Amino acid sequence: MVLYLIISVITIIITAIMLYQRWWTSNIPPGPKPRFLLGNIHELKPHWTHSFSEWSQTYGPIISVWFGTQLSVVVSNADLARQVLKDNDHQLCNRERVAKMTQSGTDLVWSDYNPHYVKLRKLCTLELFSLKSIESFRSLREMEARSMVESVYKDVMIDSTDDQTRKPVVVRKYLAAVVLNTISKLMIGKQFSDEEGKEFKEIVHKEHFLSGSGSLLDVIWWLKWVSKWLVSDKDFLAHMDRRTKWFRGAIMVEEDVAVEDHEGFVRKLLVLKEKKELSEETVHGLIWNMFTAGSDTTAVVLEWAMAEMIRYPTVQEKAQQELDAVVGSERLMTESDIPKLPYLQCVVKEALRLHPSTPTMLPHKASETVWLGGYKVPKGTTVYVHVKEIGRDPVNWINPEEFRPERFLLEDTDVKGRDFRVLPFGSGRRVCPAAQLSMNLMALVMGNLLQCFSEIPGLLCVMKTPVEALASPRAATRVIPLNMG
Ligand code: HEM
Repeated sequence: MVLYLIISVITIIITAIMLYQRWWTSNIPPGPKPRFLLGNIHELKPHWTHSFSEWSQTYGPIISVWFGTQLSVVVSNADLARQVLKDNDHQLCNRERVAKMTQSGTDLVWSDYNPHYVKLRKLCTLELFSLKSIESFRSLREMEARSMVESVYKDVMIDSTDDQTRKPVVVRKYLAAVVLNTISKLMIGKQFSDEEGKEFKEIVHKEHFLSGSGSLLDVIWWLKWVSKWLVSDKDFLAHMDRRTKWFRGAIMVEEDVAVEDHEGFVRKLLVLKEKKELSEETVHGLIWNMFTAGSDTTAVVLEWAMAEMIRYPTVQEKAQQELDAVVGSERLMTESDIPKLPYLQCVVKEALRLHPSTPTMLPHKASETVWLGGYKVPKGTTVYVHVKEIGRDPVNWINPEEFRPERFLLEDTDVKGRDFRVLPFGSGRRVCPAAQLSMNLMALVMGNLLQCFSEIPGLLCVMKTPVEALASPRAATRVIPLNMG
């Protein structure tokens, strides 16, 4: 009798779970068939986005992908992006915290949408990314761009003065440095020493490794022990310790003195921390967010733009002709020239369309069940907007794979979140708060480089290997030698 009762209860429980599961997954978007417990991870390519693209070709612009037992929905057209980032923004603006590093969510990037987030976002918008603040740091960006051009010039000329024997320069090095220096001056009023910069890069690299090795396994509950084995708590704590040490040395120096000494955003944060409005963890997290979210993203798009101009030399020539006509050869371009350089602005937009640095944005999470494109997206689902695919959708773009900035001359397309055909910065509540700042910086850096150097066409530009360009000082530009004394 007891055995009969136990079997009946177990059967009822299992049936209830199965019915709930069936109800939960009914009407979800189509996608590759998931395997028991594994989901689709056995079919994922190392670059997940490549698999997302292939599956979208087969199953349509909205697909379900299972990471173990965690459902993700990926959308890949402009209409669905609007449904995610505008019509259902409120229900879909939480974050899926993908890696161990992001678990606390006390920072801005990985926080859910809650009062804490709103407070931080407001602070950043007002104090760091407002038009007034961006304008007040303009000369600083121009100084950084100028010193980048000077160091390229020095390195190019150091070996040889003629094109035949000159060695190529690795563009990435200069782009990464100019972006990091600009952000650090914005944040702490000074740039890092070589040692601090090197340590920062190593920490970020390690962080990518640690989160990369754990993230997939972290979402599969029965494989979590593998993740723990790959990245033990000890490794993780040692990494966080190293990060905090770097922080103290490079950013906070002596935290008590810092409030008095630092200029820039960090100073404002420290004042708020003193008033106990922000915790130490939040202050650290926010500063770390700005350095990590800002540096690689901007440098990567710039590097792609330079690579595309090596591939399409006529684009480079056109941009240089515009710079010659508007700015001339007696001075370097400044940010106030940007409105008079429509073609250069189009080059930046085209680079962002084809090569958005975060191809699926950052993952959002459904706080409620919503319906997208007629399909159910249950509460708890991770939502990705495949902006790289959207920017290449032949429905909206003629010859989408071609780097043709002219397409943006025909109509004034917004790329900062208002036009859903091109969303490199996302859109809605979680849109990148630094979109304007990045656009200014990219136009400035690109304009300065184009004004001063030409690349010899035909060089290697496969992005697995950094772009190497044989930079040749332009005869028409007299600016650098004049300023280098
Ligand atoms: C070309 C350069 C950049 C691109 C393409 C880019 C793109 C993005 C994207 C796609 C998101 C996620 C949007 C979403 O999830 O809905 C984002 C978020 C963010 N970005 Fe950027 N970004 C760039 C530069 C920067 C810079 C320079 C900074 C800071 C100095 C920055 C700070 C942030 C922050 C703090 C967030 C999180 C916003 C939030 O969750 O509320 N980004 N960015």
